[in-house]
Order: sequence, then C-alpha cells, then structure tokens
Amino acid sequence: MPQATVLLDRNFTIGETDRRLFGAFVEHLGRCVYGGIYEPGHPQADAHGFRRDVLALVRELGPTIMRYPGGNFVSGYNWDDGVGPVAQRPRRLDLAWMSTETNAFGTNEFIDWCRATDVEPMLAVNLGTRDGDAARSMLEYCNHPAGTALSDLRRTHGWAAPHAVKFWCLGNEMDGPWQMEAKTATEYGRIAVEAAKMMKWIDPTIELAACGSSGRNMPTFGAWEDTVLEHTFDYVEYISLHTYLNNYAGDTAAFLGCADLMDSFIDEVVAIADAVAARRRSDKRIMLSFDEWNVWYRTRRVRADRVKPGWPVAPPILEEIYTMEDALVFGGACISLLNHADRVKAACLAQLVNVIAPIMTETGGPAWRQTIFHPFAQMSRFGRGRVLRAEIASASYAARYFDPRGAIDQYYDMPAVPYLKLAAVHDAASGGLNLFALNRHLTEALDVDLAARSFPALAVEQALTLHHRDLKAINTKGDPDRVAPTPLTGVAATDAGMRASLPPASWNLIRLKPAA
Ligand code: AHR
Repeated sequence: MPQATVLLDRNFTIGETDRRLFGAFVEHLGRCVYGGIYEPGHPQADAHGFRRDVLALVRELGPTIMRYPGGNFVSGYNWDDGVGPVAQRPRRLDLAWMSTETNAFGTNEFIDWCRATDVEPMLAVNLGTRDGDAARSMLEYCNHPAGTALSDLRRTHGWAAPHAVKFWCLGNEMDGPWQMEAKTATEYGRIAVEAAKMMKWIDPTIELAACGSSGRNMPTFGAWEDTVLEHTFDYVEYISLHTYLNNYAGDTAAFLGCADLMDSFIDEVVAIADAVAARRRSDKRIMLSFDEWNVWYRTRRVRADRVKPGWPVAPPILEEIYTMEDALVFGGACISLLNHADRVKAACLAQLVNVIAPIMTETGGPAWRQTIFHPFAQMSRFGRGRVLRAEIASASYAARYFDPRGAIDQYYDMPAVPYLKLAAVHDAASGGLNLFALNRHLTEALDVDLAARSFPALAVEQALTLHHRDLKAINTKGDPDRVAPTPLTGVAATDAGMRASLPPASWNLIRLKPAA
C-alpha cells in the first residue's frame, strides 16, 4: 500500500487566504445568465427574475466574488446596451459565441444579483472593440455618486447609490486570436495603461487586473506578461491567469496529475512579475488573479457544440457534464490555489451555472449539483485562514500530459506526480486545522501519517471523502447525488497529529480541532 508522510508546523505559513480566492464567473454565454441565474417566468423566479433555486445552490457553493460579463463576450460588449429601460435595449449579434444578445440582463441587474447572493462583483471592461474611453464611462456610471451625466443616468435608471465596484479586469484574453480585436502585448499594454490611468483618476480606490496569457501553452506566454507589466506596472494590482485542464488523451493518471502544472504556471508568473519589479528596484508586488480555471475539454473544441445555426438566444452550449474523475482533478486545482495563497489573491471558477459549471439547470425545471460542486463548496467553507507549508514525502508516478494548444510538442513530460496532493489551512480563531487531500493512486488506498508540530493535541472534528468506484460517474437531474461526499472512516488523531487511509482516487476533507 503506498504511503505518504506530512510534516507541518503551526508557525510556518505560506499565506493567508484572501476572501477573493473563492470566486466564480458569470458570462453572457449559452445558458449561464438566461436560463441559469436569470429566468423570469420560472416557477422559482423572484420579483427580479432571479431563480431562487439557483440562488440557494450558489449560497451553498459559497463563491465570494463573481466575474462578469465575460470572458470572450466582453471583447465585443457595449456596457451601455445593457442599462436603462429593458424594452429599449438593443438586440446584438454576439460574435464570441455566435448568439443573439437581448441585453435583458445587464450591469445593474448583475449588481442586484450579487447583493442577493452576498458576493462581491468583479467587472470586466471591453478593451477589444472598445478602449479607455468606454472603460472610464462605465466606471463613472457605476461608481461615481451623482452630479454628472453618467452617474445621474444610473440614478434615473433606478440605482441611486453607487455600485462601489472595487475589482475591475482590463479586458479578457487579449493575446488570443479568437478574441474580438486581439492585440499584441505592446498594443494591449498601451491601451490597458491608459484605461487604467483614467479609471484610477475617477476612483482611486479600485483595484485593477491586467490580462496575462490566456494559457501557459500560448506561444507568447512569458514575453506577454513581461511586456504588459512593463506598461501597466504602476497602475495595476493584479495580472490574470487562465487554465482549463483536460483529458483529451484519455489518460486518467496524467489527468489527475495535471493540476500540478497550475503550480508551475503560478510560480512562473510570479517570477516574471517580480523580475519586472526588480528592473524598477520596486518593492511593489503584483498579485495574481487566477480569474478562469476549471476542467474543460469535451465541449471545448467541438464547433457544432459551440455554434448553433441561426444566431440563437442563450443556446445550450459548453454544457460540460462533469465526472467523478473531473472532480478529482478539480480538487487538485483547489489545492494548487490554496498552496499559493501568498500570491494568488483572487481566483474565479469558470463558470457558475450551465456553462462549464458546478450548477446545472433545466430551463423551466430543477437545478442540481455537478460533481465539481463539492470540492469547491468545501474549499470555500473550510479554506479560510492561514495556509501552512507542508513537507510532503509521497510515493510518486511519471506522466505525460497532452495539451492541444501547445505550439511545438503537444505532450508535456510532467515532473514526478506525488500520489498525495494536500493543502493544510489553519483557522487561528477556532484553532482548527483543515486538510484537503487528494489520493491520485487509481487502485490503492494511500496511508497518510501527518505530524502537526506546535499544535496542541488534536481530535477529529469531521472527515469526508468524495469517491466513486466508477470514475466516469456523473450527477444528473434524475440522480443528482450519485457523486457526493460521504463519511471517511478510519481517521485517527495521534500524539503527533493524525493518521488516515485515503480511498483510491479520492478527494478528502479532514477537519481537526483542539482536543477538549
Ligand atoms: O470560460 C469560457 C471562455 O474561456 C471564456 O469566455 C474565455 O475567456 C476563455 O477562453
């Protein structure tokens, strides 16, 4: 039976998790907005048209910040189309998803929805087909209190108080040729810094994220971050990262390992950002906003799935159905984010409802949890606190990961993949120690022996496992809880910390508390 040991110390900290690490993403894409969070006429709709069943699941999922309105969509979006009397809003062709956008739902409705779910809004401005002028107008409309044409327009639209949106994204994936008006790093850097400068003149309290590469495998990765930050360094707080993990190769072991590439990606972006700072002899540290991450591949490169004929409104596209296997990889990504809490200060699960999402709905029907819902909900609820530096000694395996956007060799030889991937979060207020642990061995349980130095004697408060003997098991409308957490037995507190046996191919949450 494979074994792993873990050594941690209450005083050795990676960093405090920022509230914004537990974010998600709502894009005007498929049925994410229309038929997802917003469906007037649905039996569960409230007076705003927000689905109450979805609101309840969102609260259970626990996202803290929500990115909106895109994604690729934002690169052609006129924010001003989406405000004012709904009957007068224009219908537009959306070239990102080959759909018709009705604009029935816009920025003000999104802010109301955020207030209803108690999440912070994160807004993106269009730096594709538009520029700094539209960005500053949108900010003035949203955040300026009153007394100017744009702020008074918001008031006449029914929102007297400013929205006070703090977190803004300067465009989306501007390095990608699929983007409307994609740009070179220099072109984007120039537009982004001018937009940022004006936006901060209007509201100096905002925080800004510049676009990083749309993936680690982009041919311009690295040089892009360097150039963009050279332009924007003085005006932004964050650089963004995006990653979608895949199993195109049908290689489960490599798939389970691939979340480790997120660790490499984060380390590389940190190094580049700090090199830009070093060239300036600056002690400013650019933080990372991992504002799109998930598993996504089945509905990704299939044109028929993305493009329906006839410019439909809210077509059912990118409706990825997640398996048990996906939930494990997703859990690995959660652990990668937690273990970089010192520099990743915001992150958004892409996306929230129906579109590559933890929550599925039937238009006119019920809503249910996909497999990936569970690791996220547990991370958001129990991942708040100080992430501890864990010394892990685990048996490992070799894997090659296939990534189809790679420029030259589409296979990556991965660093050795330890069977155990783990994050440990100490909640100083309660004294609790929460462990998130993935056993990547496909057929054998993993014995974990954990020493928690400088902790008082510990007792097991709760232990749950996400495990299914069929790695292709999914949740459906008719069988919504086929993959769901169940109690993890055999977890024991020891004199030094804790011992557990993690089932093969399992995600686990173990919560320890000071013994009475
Ligand atoms: O999340 C789906 C899409 O993936 C987003 O619109 C885009 O930013 C990314 O390529």
